[in-house]
Amino acid sequence: MSADPRKINLRAEAAGASDESIQAVHDDLLHQQVEPKEGFTLMPLFLLGVLSTMIFIVSVYFIHNRGGFDPLTHDGRFDPKTMGASAVAAAPADPRIAGKRFYTQVCATCHQATGLGVPGVYPPLAGSEWVTSNDSRLIRLVVHGLQGPITVEGKIYNGIMPAFGAGSSYNWNDQRIADVLTYIRSEWGNEAAPIAPEQVTAIRTGTDAGRTKAWTEAELLAAP
Ligand code: HEC
Repeated sequence: MSADPRKINLRAEAAGASDESIQAVHDDLLHQQVEPKEGFTLMPLFLLGVLSTMIFIVSVYFIHNRGGFDPLTHDGRFDPKTMGASAVAAAPADPRIAGKRFYTQVCATCHQATGLGVPGVYPPLAGSEWVTSNDSRLIRLVVHGLQGPITVEGKIYNGIMPAFGAGSSYNWNDQRIADVLTYIRSEWGNEAAPIAPEQVTAIRTGTDAGRTKAWTEAELLAAP
């Protein structure tokens, strides 16, 4: 059925519509329609924001918890309490390492790095009964020094061994003396128990408190 345009116009005019008002109504209707487009539309800004925030949060979480990319991190048998850095920090330092350092810097100038001393001048520490047998004598002669004739491994020496203890010109603390003695008691084939810093302190501030003189062999053998 085809309508006569002139009749429609007449009816529209009868309803009080002008060309302009009809045009305005059509314009409005056209604007309300969603324009079809080809291809993709941009993601709504809101969704973009949510996704970016999620990716950001996940990255931060991952950086904090990646465990240095260490495969052990996710190994159920790995217990950080017993194997982690805390266990390493808790392990006591080996006194012989510090002992060796100070022996090499100071004692070795006379007794030599080999512990063999210099024949007729500086007695040996390797295999010396003064080093391995009696703790107290060894501590005493290093804290306050030694002079006069002394028999070491069947040979007589007569020189001056300096004092190293607190108050001497070397002024070594008890820890350092214990470390060096522990070192010389376990080096060059010597096998004697370590010396603890407390042992040095006990002798230095106990029976030997107030002493300033170097020892002699006879005095050492008579000391308690
Ligand atoms: C300046 C040289 C010199 C230095 C440094 C020196 N000593 Fe001695 N030491 C001697 C002499 C000399 C004797 C022997 C003393 C004597 O004849 O009465 C001796 C004796 C000893 C003895 C007893 C004898 C023996 O051979 O077992 C011990 C132990 C000893 N020294 C350990 C040490 C230690 C440990 C150090 C470092 C902390 C040290 N000495 C540093 C010169 C030195």
